[in-house]
Amino acid sequence: MTVWDPNLIVVGVDGSEASQHAASTAVEMARAAGATLHLVTVVRPPEGWWGIVGSPPTPAALTEALEDAQREILDRVVDHLDLDGVTHETVEDMGDPGRVLAAYCEEQDADLLVVGRRGAGFIERLVIGSVANKVVNDAPCPVLVIP
Ligand SMILES: Nc1ncnc2c1ncn2[C@@H]1O[C@H](COP(=O)(O)OP(=O)(O)OP(=O)(O)O)[C@@H](O)[C@H]1O
Ligand SMILES: [Mg+2]
Repeated sequence: MTVWDPNLIVVGVDGSEASQHAASTAVEMARAAGATLHLVTVVRPPEGWWGIVGSPPTPAALTEALEDAQREILDRVVDHLDLDGVTHETVEDMGDPGRVLAAYCEEQDADLLVVGRRGAGFIERLVIGSVANKVVNDAPCPVLVIP
């Protein structure tokens, strides 16, 4: 019988309370397993935002602002974690979050993806967030969904 011996655990971070729980769980699992942890945050590209924000900034400026904001979110989450003794990396990527997380796990040959059941979205009536739903369907590895 082979025991589960993960080398790489990936966790999706969007700054929500659920993703904070997901990150804490992922840290403890990585520590217990001696696995590497990648904390990944995905910036949604700014397409389609014109008109909502009034006179639009240039796409490059907007993208940069979004990347900075997402980086701050990731830094804040990492600040709250006890990562002592856990080999880890923070990663910022861009695109559709569910798709990018699944592709990242494929590329990196991840052994586990951890996400929150809900995220930073506002649509409270959804039972499970669209990103969580997407990765449960599409990720190449097991997915752990944390409430
Ligand atoms: N941009 C992102 N980058 C990395 N991980 C993310 C991102 N968005 C969501 N996640 C992960 O997915 C989990 C579920 O979030 P999700 O976005 O599916 O729920 P929601 O925001 O409540 O719903 P929706 O986005 O569909 O309105 C989060 O707790 C987090 O772990
Ligand atoms: Mg969301």
